[in-house]
Amino acid sequence: MCGIVGYVGAEQAAPILLDGLSRLEYRGYDSAGVAIYSQGKVRVAKAKGRLQVLSDMIQGGRAIQGTIGIGHTRWATHGAPSDVNSHPHVSHSGNIAVVHNGIIENYAELKSFLQSKGVPFVSETDSEVVAQLVEYFYQGDLLEAVGRVLHRIQGAYALGILCCDQPDQLIAVRKDSPLILGLAEGANFLASDVTAILRHTRDVIYMEDGEVAVLTSQGVQCYNSLLQPITKEVSQVDWEVDAAEKGGYEHFMFKEIMEQPQALRRAVFPRIQDGEVYLEDFALTDEDIRGLSKVYVVACGSSYHVGMVGKYHLERLLRKPVEVALASEFRYMEPIVDEHTLVIVISQSGETLDTMAALREAKRLGAKVLAIVNVVGSSIAREADEVLYTWAGPEIAVATTKAYTTQLAVLNLLGLYMARRLGTVADEEYTQVLEQMLLLPAQMEEVLEKQSQIQYLASQYFNHESIFFMGRNVDYTLGLEGSLKLKEISYIHSEAYAAGELKHGTISLIEDGTLVVAVGTYGPLFDKALSNVVEVKSRGASVLALTTQSQGERMAEVANDLVTIPDTHPLLLPSLGVVPLQLFAYYVALHRGCDIDKPRNLAKSVTVE
Ligand code: F6R
Repeated sequence: MCGIVGYVGAEQAAPILLDGLSRLEYRGYDSAGVAIYSQGKVRVAKAKGRLQVLSDMIQGGRAIQGTIGIGHTRWATHGAPSDVNSHPHVSHSGNIAVVHNGIIENYAELKSFLQSKGVPFVSETDSEVVAQLVEYFYQGDLLEAVGRVLHRIQGAYALGILCCDQPDQLIAVRKDSPLILGLAEGANFLASDVTAILRHTRDVIYMEDGEVAVLTSQGVQCYNSLLQPITKEVSQVDWEVDAAEKGGYEHFMFKEIMEQPQALRRAVFPRIQDGEVYLEDFALTDEDIRGLSKVYVVACGSSYHVGMVGKYHLERLLRKPVEVALASEFRYMEPIVDEHTLVIVISQSGETLDTMAALREAKRLGAKVLAIVNVVGSSIAREADEVLYTWAGPEIAVATTKAYTTQLAVLNLLGLYMARRLGTVADEEYTQVLEQMLLLPAQMEEVLEKQSQIQYLASQYFNHESIFFMGRNVDYTLGLEGSLKLKEISYIHSEAYAAGELKHGTISLIEDGTLVVAVGTYGPLFDKALSNVVEVKSRGASVLALTTQSQGERMAEVANDLVTIPDTHPLLLPSLGVVPLQLFAYYVALHRGCDIDKPRNLAKSVTVE
């Protein structure tokens, strides 16, 4: 999705903006641009395509002198990717430049209004209307003009605004689209994502919806939606600068796969103390937990797949009904949710619009909402009643890996914590799972050591144009995740089935040489997993199987190829089982020469419906 960065200070703005934008590239974009106040004018450079095109156009920033500016990477919504539709957009006099993330829902009406007043438009975007409207209202006071614009526009927006007449200040506005302010000595920043400014500062202000800020090189003043000055808390970001850099790896995705044991240690170890689950600042009381009639898990994409594992695990642990829903469906399905429902929303970015909308719907219906989120201070984290952070560090690759495994770990800890209060987990099992959880990072390291084997298998299978995944129970959910990973980065058509469903239709697709990835880690259903492998093999399939070490020998008798993971408690199997599937997707995509960190058409955080 789109990215914003803004700078005001004493240094040349253009190279700083280009660097900031390069750190937002991972979010997905189709064009980029900057606007800089330079020698009495707002100078704009923007271009369709990779950031490098823009950078070459302005000689890495040297071609535009100036110490204040705004930059943007665009992911087209209104109007095709093109030079003219790229941001920043400039008002017709050239006085005002604007970068915008989000969607201005009533832009057509506003555009007609402005056109009727003789204002010419050049782009097809919804965003241009903001620049034109600020100019329309501007009478010498930029903040006042912005305030009037905010009363007119509807939708979601994060805005960075620069005006020729007030060349010492930037204006930042936020509603339903993330925007933070970065504070440094003699310089200040605005950005849609902390990674854009992490090299310059760790002191940030998280803007709330409806807030406006004026940034100069000397300071930042925030205002509420009535433009009354307010004082905001400054937070410190604890991410390491190099956590958002490749650090010698060819791809962020591979680096993040390899970081998983460490991410798990961060997510889990502080939360197991003296043999008990300890959840920091957890306000759900024992009485609240006992009063729950059901749990809903709501999320999108891979986070939804974590929710599907959660359905199996939480129902087993809590003995309460657990429903799992796609966030994009939840709010339109009239969910049966009330004050006795706990709604768990899961989101790496904390900015996914559908998940945010589901959270709001759940709160409106009276439910308590607990968020499992990676990005500290993100919108979902701030709006939920309770937050459990995954502490995975910045995840840059579009395809999620370490966020998935840490989300799963946190969900398991939450399940154990609640089950302990409900008395629905035996002491012995509780202790056993916690002990095994502490071993999980080391076991994951063992799985990661199988990278060469998995790379070899990928070299055997990367030419397939269609790959099936099958499994039962949590292995089915792993199949869904393995299939999603594979298709999003390698562009191979892939589907995942609950293995028992095959004979109800899908098995007709199996023919000589079809590759089926059979996930069969879950002990109680292992015999059934074996039968399914035999079933598809007898129809000509080649089977690449995934199971545990103790079951490996029996699986090896029927499968063509086999990858094993260490044995552990059943609740922890998906945490290990997902790793070979991530590696398989990665190596297949590598063999196919795909753009692994930035797959086509995809964005890292999906902030539109
Ligand atoms: C897949 C992937 C996506 C995200 C989904 C939700 O690899 O990354 O499916 O899981 O877009 O994103 P978050 O978790 O940020 O809400």
